[in-house]
Amino acid sequence: MSIKEAYCRAHTNIALIKYWGKSDPVNIVPTSSSLSLTLDRFYTDTRVSFQAQLDQDQFFLNGQEQEKAERDKISRFLDHFRQLSGVNYRAQVSSYNHVPTAAGLASSASAYAALAGACREALDLDLTDSQLSRFARRGSGSATRSIFGGFVEWSQGSSPENSMAIPIDAANWDIGMVVIAVNKGAKKISSRQGMAHTLATSPFYEEWVKQSRQDLDEIKTAIAQRDFTTVGQIAEANAMRMHATTLAANPPFTYFEEETLTAIRAVQDLRAAGYDVYYTIDAGPNVKILCPASQMTAIEEALGQYFASEKIISTLPGGPIQILSEWT
Ligand code: PMV
Repeated sequence: MSIKEAYCRAHTNIALIKYWGKSDPVNIVPTSSSLSLTLDRFYTDTRVSFQAQLDQDQFFLNGQEQEKAERDKISRFLDHFRQLSGVNYRAQVSSYNHVPTAAGLASSASAYAALAGACREALDLDLTDSQLSRFARRGSGSATRSIFGGFVEWSQGSSPENSMAIPIDAANWDIGMVVIAVNKGAKKISSRQGMAHTLATSPFYEEWVKQSRQDLDEIKTAIAQRDFTTVGQIAEANAMRMHATTLAANPPFTYFEEETLTAIRAVQDLRAAGYDVYYTIDAGPNVKILCPASQMTAIEEALGQYFASEKIISTLPGGPIQILSEWT
């Protein structure tokens, strides 16, 4: 067994078919499969080094040593790799998030995918990328999909062992995404809390799971046919169905803010003006617009009528995790 210091980069992803609920909350197995697009512009670089002389794990984020609560989360995640490798050393983990501060995007997907990739490299583990995605899943559900680039499915599986990501398409066709950062503050209801509460109390939940399975089949066909319009239409409907479950929860809640509705209206206006644009929204108020990459500049400009330019950030599809030789 060789142990070395390793560096890994992972990009964040945005789900077009959402992950919204767990059938096994301990092992993070979802109630339905999801599908995402990995994004080039937003990523995390992580260095990990397992060392005999450390008596506890250390975790630095953007150069700052983190408090116990954050460190404990990382320790629990590292334990899966210690268990698999038989290496019991503590580790020093250092991560940098390259997400424009204005983007208001969660970075847990890229963070745990990068850490998983760095651990595989550092401990020289014999795991395929899909097998590695099962480990990333333990940190955060959406991290499962950030192991791969382009369009990625997280196949729910029937057990913790086979709930993993599968690459679907490199997305190297005319696709882009424009993020409207409505609010970059921390959200009041985490995705973990939101999905658990919805699953437990929303009468729409069962229907959501049923419909989401159909959405997934249809979007995969549309991706295979490179039918951008159908991909966008399905993604938009799927996001709104997820948010409908929260409105029907008891007590009800929503992640939408006033500007979320402004952004939805802006997308509808742009569509009426002939742009091929569709929105999706996660467990927060920010709006992400799926569009042809060739229209991205014009769309950014048109959105300038609704939002300040620093709230608008565009990106192309991103690639898979990547081992780095050092910080770049
Ligand atoms: O990865 P988590 O536990 O933060 O959950 C992500 C949930 C959504 O972003 C709302 C949907 C998704 O599939 O990414």
